[in-house]
Amino acid sequence: MNRDIQSILLSERKIRSISKRIGREISRDYADKKLVLVGTLKGALPFMAEVLKNITVPCEIDFVKVSSYGSGTTSSGTLKILLDLLRSDMAECDVLIVEDIVDSGNTLSKLTKYMREKGAKSVRTCTLLDKPSRREVEFEADYVGTVIPDEFVVGFGLDYDEKYRNLPYIGVLKKEVYQK
Ligand code: PRP
Repeated sequence: MNRDIQSILLSERKIRSISKRIGREISRDYADKKLVLVGTLKGALPFMAEVLKNITVPCEIDFVKVSSYGSGTTSSGTLKILLDLLRSDMAECDVLIVEDIVDSGNTLSKLTKYMREKGAKSVRTCTLLDKPSRREVEFEADYVGTVIPDEFVVGFGLDYDEKYRNLPYIGVLKKEVYQK
């Protein structure tokens, strides 16, 4: 385990089994649809790849980059679209937004609305982690990996100051790392 990590919250094995379950659910629900998985860069990348491997129906992948945080560790509540979908077939797309974590709920509630305004046929959401104790807006993802307590988690896509995204598990960051 990385020496900055206090404890492991979700092991690689657990992440794999969650992704299998969600992949199965998605494959069942999108059998007759035009599924487009839309990953939110950067954090969702590893989870999106893991879920993708477990989807057995035809699907496309795409990415957006949005920013809901300023430089601090709390959400600013505003959403900036830094990289948009460049598609002309939105009206045919059943968009499934893939996230690593739902925290305040601002990112996914705004992004869902944005995708609907762009004309997607349907918009649903999928997240590996859900931290309901931090919600600022009412929001529930359609596919949830697991609910976690209010801890500072990193790994498997989640960062602190752009680091730790490469850890293969989700871990709790030691306080001394971010409380300097
Ligand atoms: C994180 C995470 C979600 C969002 C969740 O992204 O990946 O997109 O915050 O928080 P919310 O529910 O409070 O809106 P971040 O902006 O840190 O970008 P990153 O994916 O590049 O790390």
